[in-house]
Amino acid sequence: MVTGGLSPRQALAQVQARLEAAGCPDADFDAWELFRLAAGRDPHLSDQPLSPAEAQRLEQFTARRAGREPLQYICGRWPFLNFELAVGPGVLCPRADTEVVAEAAAGQLKGVQNPRVLDLCAGTGCLGLGVKALRPDAEVTCLEKSPEALQYLRENARSALAGLPGQTRPAARVVEGDLFTYWQTLTPGGLDLIVSNPPYLTGEEMASLQPETAREPAMALAAGEDGLDFYRALADHYKAALRPGGALVLEIGWQQRQAVTGLLAAAGWTGIQCRQDYGGNDRCIIARA
Ligand SMILES: C[S@@+](CC[C@H](N)C(=O)[O-])C[C@H]1O[C@@H](n2cnc3c(N)ncnc32)[C@H](O)[C@@H]1O
Repeated sequence: MVTGGLSPRQALAQVQARLEAAGCPDADFDAWELFRLAAGRDPHLSDQPLSPAEAQRLEQFTARRAGREPLQYICGRWPFLNFELAVGPGVLCPRADTEVVAEAAAGQLKGVQNPRVLDLCAGTGCLGLGVKALRPDAEVTCLEKSPEALQYLRENARSALAGLPGQTRPAARVVEGDLFTYWQTLTPGGLDLIVSNPPYLTGEEMASLQPETAREPAMALAAGEDGLDFYRALADHYKAALRPGGALVLEIGWQQRQAVTGLLAAAGWTGIQCRQDYGGNDRCIIARA
């Protein structure tokens, strides 16, 4: 039990030991983050003992994390590229690997003024807002179906990029809708870029999730028995919405390169390439309309 009067070093050691006993990966990093959240200071740079109120907060955060609640949900905000997103139960936690996809997407817009961009399955909005952070002149629309995720998306579109140079408020237009039918509403050739990190787990993967991932919404993860339901719809229905030469940039699971490339090629997409994430895994597919 974390109590007032403990030094930062003692508190950190205690929290880390409890998180390790609960099987949390990266228990040392999480303990540091939770201390910082509870006490508002860096435990490595401070000798000031915990006050009773700080200790009570740290105890509550530790119990939640030991129950394998995602660290991002406990923090309520999480960094992505050079900004922070609101995050919590009901929305997928933004992953560092997805930054590679946002950068690849923005990289497709060189030489295009005021690019028109659509983020499908937007969640927190990390991809659409990531492109907007890198290209403030972009007109970004974010589509999302889940009412819970839409609450975070609207807040992030309003405020996540405030303070960054050249940004307007809101940074993106938010649309409630379904990827499987939304294409019917789009003007042919009206977009320069579609970016998406859709659900992509298989039935088998859904049955063996890490405890933290199991606390995230199934709707953000499950994509049919073979994990490809959303990629099939993207390949088959979204090419006409892009101008000729416009780009589709997709996050994929590390084993899906061949399958997604095959779906896109069969549907007539060209220039198909794959990029790796920071861990060297296949993570991003780029194709041209
Ligand atoms: C893998 S998450 C990605 C979220 C965000 N793009 C990211 O990278 O963190 C997929 C998102 O798709 C949303 N979603 C699921 N089915 C959908 C559908 N049919 N149409 C639109 N969005 C959907 C989920 O609610 C979830 O927010």
